[in-house]
Amino acid sequence: MNLSRNWRRLLGAALSLGLVFVVGMAMAAEATPEQAAGQRSHVPPMRQRPPGKAAIASANFLATGAGFEVLAKGGNAFDAAVAVAATLSVVEPESSGIGGGFMAVLHRARDNRDVFIDAREVAPAAVDAKDYVGPDGRPNRDHSLNGPLAAGIPGEPAGLVLMAERYGQLPLQESLAPAIRIARDGFHPDPRLREAIAQKRAILQRWPASAAKYLRGGKPPAADALWRDPAQARTLELLGAHGDAGFYQGETARRLVAAVRAAGGNWTLADLAGYRALERTPLQFDYRGYRIITAPPPSSGGVALAEMLNILSGFDLDKLDRAHRVHYIVEAMRRAFRDHNDYLGDPDFVKMPLDMLLSPYYADGLRQGILPDRATPSSMLPVAEASDPGMHTTHFSIIDADGNMASVTSTVNTLLGSSFVAAGTGVLLNNEMDDFALVPNQPNAYGLLGSKANAPAPGKRMLSSMSPSIVIGANRTMVIGSPGGSTIITQVLEGILHFIDGQDASEIVADKRFHHQYLPDVVYVEPGTFDAATSEELTRMGYALKPREPWGFMNVVTWNRLTNTLDAASDPRRPSGLGKVE
Ligand code: GLY
Repeated sequence: MNLSRNWRRLLGAALSLGLVFVVGMAMAAEATPEQAAGQRSHVPPMRQRPPGKAAIASANFLATGAGFEVLAKGGNAFDAAVAVAATLSVVEPESSGIGGGFMAVLHRARDNRDVFIDAREVAPAAVDAKDYVGPDGRPNRDHSLNGPLAAGIPGEPAGLVLMAERYGQLPLQESLAPAIRIARDGFHPDPRLREAIAQKRAILQRWPASAAKYLRGGKPPAADALWRDPAQARTLELLGAHGDAGFYQGETARRLVAAVRAAGGNWTLADLAGYRALERTPLQFDYRGYRIITAPPPSSGGVALAEMLNILSGFDLDKLDRAHRVHYIVEAMRRAFRDHNDYLGDPDFVKMPLDMLLSPYYADGLRQGILPDRATPSSMLPVAEASDPGMHTTHFSIIDADGNMASVTSTVNTLLGSSFVAAGTGVLLNNEMDDFALVPNQPNAYGLLGSKANAPAPGKRMLSSMSPSIVIGANRTMVIGSPGGSTIITQVLEGILHFIDGQDASEIVADKRFHHQYLPDVVYVEPGTFDAATSEELTRMGYALKPREPWGFMNVVTWNRLTNTLDAASDPRRPSGLGKVE
């Protein structure tokens, strides 16, 4: 489609008049999400000698070590990803685990195949939105965040099986071996885990199996405590020995369902037996000569990244002073999050105008609504309130010696998920049901609003912000992602911009961050991000700047293909992480 300038102007004007939905729907053809993905990549596929070494960056040194252990046994990046994810499930349960789900972008070097693994949780068949509404019509946050009603059917075990069987080189059992050993022999919980347990102590005490797993005499474990969980080791062993059937059927499934139902949840054996991890086509688009390969729905992350970078491609960010660079980036964030709230959900359940949202012409229209020196109040953009970015969810990045890559973001949702451990399994369940728009127009834990597109339904995946991504340029490649709830998307955006500006992995993970998500209409700012003059200029333009902590745990690996060198870096804000090249 070759739209004339006037037509683009008209589109811009229509946007400011609030007609964007009508125009967008008129432009939307019948493209499926998969067709809408991958349309506009002009960066040639990578053909270069393999790096010969491997790089892994994860949120915990034991998990990074598990990845290298599996590589040394002859595994590839995908076997290492299974080992890292399973080990994080044991040593970093506050962020992710086999009671949760993950999303991953994989790049297989031998055939340049890019694939997205969707191991997102789904709603159980008996889901009932009324369970999440209090008598006053307001959201019942206790039900959506704590205990078994908060938990979706886990996707991580099936995702690990899929990754090992279709992309790995080792039997699943071998890749799970480090996690099983650490669960059985024990490890010393790091300060973040002990803080998470202290924060959730009262909720953990509600369920005996949760208290037994995480508390010692009603208190978080001491720094020198050796933490063992034979039940979790056995659950992982069954998964390794029997694949999907070892978790979704048989002993583990029976224990999970019995524990959930005894505590007021509604899972059935059929919910577990019916769960499938899926392969999807990743979203791909170009920005300044780089190909971005990222998460499609049911994540909003890739769509938002594409929309933001399409808008930003019309500005020469390098030539702008700091305040104006931030201004245009924030305006792009605002517009992408507005659309996130409105349109997105599980692609197997809802039709989304992806061809509109991903179109450069749509971005042109949005760009023309941005004033050069003034913030656009969110109240003047047609539509849709919003909180703590949290330090839950985890991301790790891997490149192996052959050039295979895994970008994996894994989560149980908020800190320690639902705090509910299913007795006899060692499995801590997620509280991902809160990521659905459970009560229309009421914000979730991240302050994100949702529409009908993200309403709960049996078997439906809840919308995510997870944005595992791979960025490929002519000579440089990056594997990136981050935890942080709704800030995942903007942190990854900022990481991509810094990479394209030439920064290395250590600089990218250390950069100070800011975030805007349409509503509330404020720019969240990591202390120290802006100097006084920039803050003053942004305030003059109409921005409300609000300091916020915490940020991070970005884990990045990069590959300079000219010098054939790898680099790995873990966010310096959190000392338990480790990025390593070997
Ligand atoms: N549970 C956080 C996310 O998926 O975005």
